[in-house]
Amino acid sequence: MEKASIDVGLLEPILLEYRDQKGAVIPILQRAQDLYGYLPEEAMIEIAKKSRISISQLYGIATFYAQFNLEPRGRHIISICDGTACHVRGAPKLVTAVEEKLNLVAGGSDPDYKYTLEIVYCLGSCGLAPIALVNDQVYGNTTPDTLVEKVMDLD
Ligand code: FES
Repeated sequence: MEKASIDVGLLEPILLEYRDQKGAVIPILQRAQDLYGYLPEEAMIEIAKKSRISISQLYGIATFYAQFNLEPRGRHIISICDGTACHVRGAPKLVTAVEEKLNLVAGGSDPDYKYTLEIVYCLGSCGLAPIALVNDQVYGNTTPDTLVEKVMDLD
């Protein structure tokens, strides 16, 4: 699926609201991301123009904070822990199984943006290694088959 082009007009009320506030770029980016699900290039250009900040500075801010996504995300977010404990207990096999079954690569999404696969490092529950989070639901001591089955069941 192609990335849909977006309606930058939807940003107008947000940009108006913050018009006279210096240093409001982060809340503007947050609101824009809530609106589109990520920060599309067209939105970044519009925000830079209206906020009188250079586009490179704006991208600098957006890439500095982990909360901002410059690419669309899937409807379901799968996070596999590849911290040390999870790694030695089979995390790489979970990653490979999910990548193959869902037709994506870690760090990205499938062509229909149904799934996004992220790698994270230590979720603080190493006793349950290997761990995956699927839409914030924790699956501990999981296996490639169990994890694939869970994610394939999602609408
Ligand atoms: S290494 Fe995965 S939870 Fe700690």
